[in-house]
Amino acid sequence: MSGVFVTGTGTEVGKTVVAAAIARTAAASGRRVAVFKPAVSGLDEGGEPDHALLRRAAGSSQPDEEIAPYRYGPAVSPHLAAELAGETIDPRRLRAGAGAAAAAGDTLIVEGVGGFLVPLTLGSIGSRAAGYLIRDLARDLALPIVIAASAGLGTINHTLLTVEAVRAAGLEVAAVVLTPWPDEPGELERSNRETIAGLGEVRVDALPSLHLDEPASWPALEVDGL
Ligand SMILES: Nc1ncnc2c1ncn2[C@@H]1O[C@H](COP(=O)(O)OP(=O)(O)OP(=O)(O)O)[C@@H](O)[C@H]1O
Ligand SMILES: [Mg+2]
Repeated sequence: MSGVFVTGTGTEVGKTVVAAAIARTAAASGRRVAVFKPAVSGLDEGGEPDHALLRRAAGSSQPDEEIAPYRYGPAVSPHLAAELAGETIDPRRLRAGAGAAAAAGDTLIVEGVGGFLVPLTLGSIGSRAAGYLIRDLARDLALPIVIAASAGLGTINHTLLTVEAVRAAGLEVAAVVLTPWPDEPGELERSNRETIAGLGEVRVDALPSLHLDEPASWPALEVDGL
C-alpha cells in the first residue's frame, strides 16, 4: 500500500488540512488518491466534516461510508462516541475499510483521530484484553507517518513526544508539518522549527494558511515516497 498516515500532536492541530494538502498535491501530479479516516465525531457541530474536505482535496468520489466507516454526532473521543451510539468500533472493519479505500486509488492518505495514542476501543481496562489505539491502526496499515503540529509555544514537547511514540511503535516519521505557518514567522516559530528538526532528527515542513475553499490555490506539500 502506498500512502501516508497523518497523525497529530492532539485534536484540532491541523491534521485534516495537512492530509488534504498532501492529497491535493498527489492528485495534482496525476495520482488517483483515496482517503480514509477511521472515525469521525462531532458531526453535530456542523461545518464541513473531515471526510468531505479530504474527498474534495483528493478529487475522490468515494462515498462517506468508504472514507469514514464510523461517523458520530457528539464531539467526543471515538471510543466514547461509539459507546453513546450503542456500538463498539471493530478493528477488523477498519483494516478492511482502509484496504478497500486503498483499492479505489493508487495512493492512500489516512487521517487519524486526535493524537497518536487516542483509543478506538478500550478493550477491558485492567484485563489482558488490550484496547486498540490509533497507534495500533497505524501499525497495522504500516504507512509512513506525518505529524501535524502547531507552530507556536508548546509545540516542541508535544511534537517530540509524538515522534518518540511513533518510532517506539516501529514506524517511520516521514515529516512533521507545522500548521498554519505564519506569513511572517517570528523568532519563536523559526526556533521551534529548527529545534524539532534537530532534537527529533526529522524533516520539518511548514504549511501556510490555506483558503480551504480553493484547493487549486494551495501550495504543494510533498512527502518522500509518495
Ligand atoms: N494551514 C492551514 N490553513 C488554514 N487553516 C488551518 C491551517 N492549519 C490549521 N488550520 C485550521 O485549524 C483548525 C484545525 O484544523 P484541522 O481541522 O485540520 O485539525 P484536526 O487536527 O484535523 O482536528 P480534528 O482532531 O478535529 O480532526 C481548523 O479550523 C483549520 O481550518
Ligand atoms: Mg481532522
